[in-house]
Amino acid sequence: MYLNNYLSKYSNENDLSLIITSLANAAIEISKTIRNIKKVNNNFSTSKTLNQDGDVQKPLDITADEVLIDFLKKSPVSGYASEEQEGFIDFKNNYNFIVFADPLDGSSNIDVNVSIGTIFSIMNKNELALEKAFIQKGSNQKASGFFVYGPQTTLFITIGHGTALFALDELKNQFYLIKEKIIIPKSTSEFAINAAYQRFWNSATSKYIQNCQDGEEGPRKKNFGMRWVGSLVADASRIFIRGGIFLYPADNRKKYKEGRLRLTYEANPIAFLIEEAKGKATDGNESILNLEVREIHQRSPLIFGSSEEVLEFKKFY
Ligand code: AHG
Ligand code: MN
Ligand code: MN
Repeated sequence: MYLNNYLSKYSNENDLSLIITSLANAAIEISKTIRNIKKVNNNFSTSKTLNQDGDVQKPLDITADEVLIDFLKKSPVSGYASEEQEGFIDFKNNYNFIVFADPLDGSSNIDVNVSIGTIFSIMNKNELALEKAFIQKGSNQKASGFFVYGPQTTLFITIGHGTALFALDELKNQFYLIKEKIIIPKSTSEFAINAAYQRFWNSATSKYIQNCQDGEEGPRKKNFGMRWVGSLVADASRIFIRGGIFLYPADNRKKYKEGRLRLTYEANPIAFLIEEAKGKATDGNESILNLEVREIHQRSPLIFGSSEEVLEFKKFY
């Protein structure tokens, strides 16, 4: 089954399907650009520009953002917010949908040919002014997903009928269904965290990870393995397929007291996909989808994955 058949099977909202199809076409273009990287001028040189958050923007971050805007402005979307834009873009029309995106997730992996991706979240405007529409809670999402530009180009998507995995058929330029109604295994013995920041962790994170590391001899009475790709989309893909827990907690570094990842275009879309696949996503205290949004670029701690393991982590809060 192709993506368009899936969308017509589960959604009667034509505009929503058109937006998702546009995002898929944008992702096909981004994926081809990455495969033919010499098209991206100077991608391997260090760029000088910074985004609104002070992160270095690489040419591919900007190219991906431009491709998304090109496709979305021809779609039934009234506004667009992204990691690479300071505010939101007002397309100046009366359509009922808004889109959030992390155009290129995993920037630090671009130069080393490791999987990177595009994350998106779609909400209704709900007759709000755009300023208000872009600070709705994650629980208002109508659809979310992410594309991974890896050995295969894949798409994890939810439109509220479970989470489905698609892969790009490069000859037909179409995404075909690999698996629908994905269920994340409840338990796991694999965790993902950047352990280089251990000295900045709070006691909840430290104790939880210590227990995992103590293995069979410790309170968990089993051995754990560790994986950290450094691209949220790649770590999340692994967790959808074989379970696991991902942690990017708040820590004591100045910039990351509220975590590093961004709520509206990283944590919310991932949390919606995770919950649709029967996993859990939390900031430690609250479910991610219930968090109040104050501004588009707000950061949030993000812990998600196998439900039993996320509950185990929450015991320390
Ligand atoms: P982005 O490239 O969009 O800025 O996101 C990178 C994120 C995420 O993909 C990853 O999980 C995390 O940053 C890695 O952070 P560290 O470099 O601190 O490990
Ligand atoms: Mn990102
Ligand atoms: Mn990014």
